[in-house]
Amino acid sequence: MTKKTGGLAGIVVGDSGISTVGKEGLDLNYRGYSIHDLAEQSTFEEVAHLLVHNTLPNQQELKAYREKLMNLRKLPDSLLMVLEKIPAATHPMDVLRTGCSMLGTLEPEITREKQRDIADRLIACVPGMLLYWYHFHQHHQKIDTTSDEKTIASHFLYLLHHKKPDPLQVRAVDVSLILYAEHEFNASTFAARVTTSTESDFHSAIVTGIGTLRGPLHGGANEAAMELIERFKNPDDAEKGIRELLTNKAKIMGFGHRVYKISDPRSDIIKEWSQKLSAHATDGYLYPISERIEKIMWDEKHLFPNLDFYSATTYHFCGIPTAMFTPLFVMSRLTGWSAHIFEQRADNRLIRPDSNYSGPKPREYIPIEQRG
Ligand code: ACO
Repeated sequence: MTKKTGGLAGIVVGDSGISTVGKEGLDLNYRGYSIHDLAEQSTFEEVAHLLVHNTLPNQQELKAYREKLMNLRKLPDSLLMVLEKIPAATHPMDVLRTGCSMLGTLEPEITREKQRDIADRLIACVPGMLLYWYHFHQHHQKIDTTSDEKTIASHFLYLLHHKKPDPLQVRAVDVSLILYAEHEFNASTFAARVTTSTESDFHSAIVTGIGTLRGPLHGGANEAAMELIERFKNPDDAEKGIRELLTNKAKIMGFGHRVYKISDPRSDIIKEWSQKLSAHATDGYLYPISERIEKIMWDEKHLFPNLDFYSATTYHFCGIPTAMFTPLFVMSRLTGWSAHIFEQRADNRLIRPDSNYSGPKPREYIPIEQRG
């Protein structure tokens, strides 16, 4: 099997009614709502309600949903103890993988009737899980993982910086959470569906998703993109560096996509936020560097930035440490993974594909004492 036909590229592996990723000329949408409308006019909690509870909430429902999520932020003491034991040098994605797994032992899924409550619990408490571990190890502080902040975006920024977050930064993070929430049968969602298809529990499916998202070909690309952008001092330096990398056949993280061939519809939206924030940042020069990288990638390879590329500088300009970029993706994609777990469960069949055998022909077994 060649590389080009591998990786299930172009293979339809099931039906889904959650999002359309540029299929049949349709814009990316979540349950029929355009990503552009959602990013422009909604908030992440509305999108979470749409994905987890199937509908866009009315004002009363949104208020109740926000309150529900706020009330689910406190972490059990034994989870806090585990977070304290995780080494300081651990990647934050491993902290979330471990934290979600631990929560699954403390609050196991007993009945599927509670699956939406489990999803809400995870959506509500994952920011606190990450930031409790972070402050414990970085600043020797045991923080309160609850806050009066009404949205996930403002709660996250408040817990990170311990001060009232800047409204522009809150909205930038909020929009990024909307954009990251759902994307059909991407690798982590598909992996979570495979786990679900074995009739495993909710937390196991989420832990599968986190482990799959972590890699730089998927969610980890936003961190890798930031590390790349930061290497350069100015746009000319970036142009030279990117050309050299391309000559050496290196992959430029944050570019290209398995499904999109001309552009990622989410990229222009987050790019605007990166530009807006750069005007207020001390290292705003990173934005023109990013733009030059985008230009070179298009001129040289006809490759376009995916959502991860400008998310990197957007988060960076909000003062978010690079290692927390992919965890932010988790905070958002928990909603999409949850919707897919529910959908898989509603009409389940074990996901178990075939492979072409490419190993040795049948051969004679050699007893161990006769092997050279
Ligand atoms: N930089 C340089 N070249 C690239 C890049 C890139 N970012 N992406 C694709 N190419 C090239 C490949 O080298 C290959 O060239 P070749 O035909 O000469 O061998 C060709 O384009 C096709 O690339 P594949 O890797 O085969 O495409 P595939 O569909 O398997 O991979 C992927 C898609 C993984 C996203 C790829 O574009 C990539 O590695 N990008 C960088 C990582 C990244 O940004 N991931 C985030 C994805 S989006 C998200 O998770 C929100």
